[in-house]
Amino acid sequence: MTIKFHSVKPILDNNLKQVYIETYGCQMNVNDSEVVLSVLQPCGYSICDKIQDASLILVNTCSIRDNAEQKVWARIKQLGYLKRKKKGLKIGILGCMAERLKEKLLENGAVDIVAGPDSYRELPSLIEALSGGDKQINTMLSQEETYADISPVRMDKNGVSAYIAIMRGCNNFCSYCVVPYVRGRERSRNPQSIINEARELFENGYKEVTLLGQNVNSYLWEREVTFAKLLEMVAKISPQLRVRFSTSHPKDMDDSVLHTIAAFENICRHVHLPIQSGSNDVLKRMNRKYTREEYLAKVKKIKDIIPESTISTDMIAGFSGETEADHLETLSVMREVGYYTAFMFQYSERPDTKAAEMYPDDVPHEIKNRRLNEIIALQNELSHISNMQDMDKIVEVLVEGTSKRSTAELVGRTSQNKICVFPAGEHKVGDYVKVKVTSYTSATLKGILV
Ligand code: SAH
Ligand code: SF4
Ligand code: F3S
Repeated sequence: MTIKFHSVKPILDNNLKQVYIETYGCQMNVNDSEVVLSVLQPCGYSICDKIQDASLILVNTCSIRDNAEQKVWARIKQLGYLKRKKKGLKIGILGCMAERLKEKLLENGAVDIVAGPDSYRELPSLIEALSGGDKQINTMLSQEETYADISPVRMDKNGVSAYIAIMRGCNNFCSYCVVPYVRGRERSRNPQSIINEARELFENGYKEVTLLGQNVNSYLWEREVTFAKLLEMVAKISPQLRVRFSTSHPKDMDDSVLHTIAAFENICRHVHLPIQSGSNDVLKRMNRKYTREEYLAKVKKIKDIIPESTISTDMIAGFSGETEADHLETLSVMREVGYYTAFMFQYSERPDTKAAEMYPDDVPHEIKNRRLNEIIALQNELSHISNMQDMDKIVEVLVEGTSKRSTAELVGRTSQNKICVFPAGEHKVGDYVKVKVTSYTSATLKGILV
């Protein structure tokens, strides 16, 4: 079945069957939920924003850490209560937990459908088959599926920034990570479909696209279009369209991408470059395929080629065998790079990964917790320093909404991905605004119009 769907707007119609979708996990899952809605809309479904109105509730799930899964189990329990009150209500579990746990999810009385990340085109037939009385499951992974021909229904409220998946899956098998098992093999999406989608978004008023993949730097289409080339193609759509991307794996981040960023002002000056640990012993056991020194050499390249770029990271505290000395190396590498922000986690052992088989989860919980807190405290300090360096600078902000504190203020992000709040004046959502930074916290810049 191929689906051609050109509208990027959600259908809201009370006369149609009502579907409600809830999303956990990463940006890829957010984008996948939009793909799911795009598959369902032509089959007579309308999106509802009140869960009570739904005849079908879909939960798009994440397996990355145990607590992500526990959250979903708790949610399934709640949905079970809802189901007992509402006759005919159906519940579907999508995403990474669906792929990892398969039939185990169906054993739960509340769950009617289980569909993995590569089977969303089959959702209409799975739903239809429920009328036969049996629960339905499809968790086949695919070598080819990229949903290239599907324009996701955009669920974001602001109409300014959108995600575009440029590849799916992951081949890296970092020893701690469940993603290669639940998302399958890496595959790149046809570049023309990416350009068309970005262009269509721009024509619909969007001002920013984020190109998504677990490892965008290994994007490759027919041995010809590399990630650097793709980035250039998207950037050329319009200087008024900002381009972001995530995530870069340090082992595949090459100079050509950095030169492309430098050459186009609308490619944002921000690189998310997860390091995970500052210790070579830990990196080796994590199977990250780079050393601390190689990582720092890439950081130096970023700073040389795009001096105004910020760098962010992901960190794991308390991986198997992590000593106090390893932890201190993590703290020191953070200082050395000077990250402007970071996503920081305690190691959570995932069943059936290489780490679960080979390396015992042997750092006690209290120590993991203490180390994570030290990482967070240091990052807070580094974020302060990074934001302090922007004082009195004039930055360009793309407006995404009004500030939570006051409707007289707008909020948006700088090219460096920093949140900036400033007085609204005559400006509105979707405008590019020049702002002079006059104060800051570790999380936000504040400024005045210039
Ligand atoms: N593909 C991306 C990351 C995807 S997962 C990359 O390689 O950078 C997002 C983050 O979750 C990872 O960077 C890692 O920091 C964290 N993570 C993954 N598995 C984890 C685990 N088992 N325990 C704790 N954190 C984990
Ligand atoms: Fe997981 Fe590593 Fe793939 Fe990222 S690159 S998704 S951390 S296996
Ligand atoms: Fe994303 Fe979680 Fe799956 S981080 S890829 S939703 S395991």
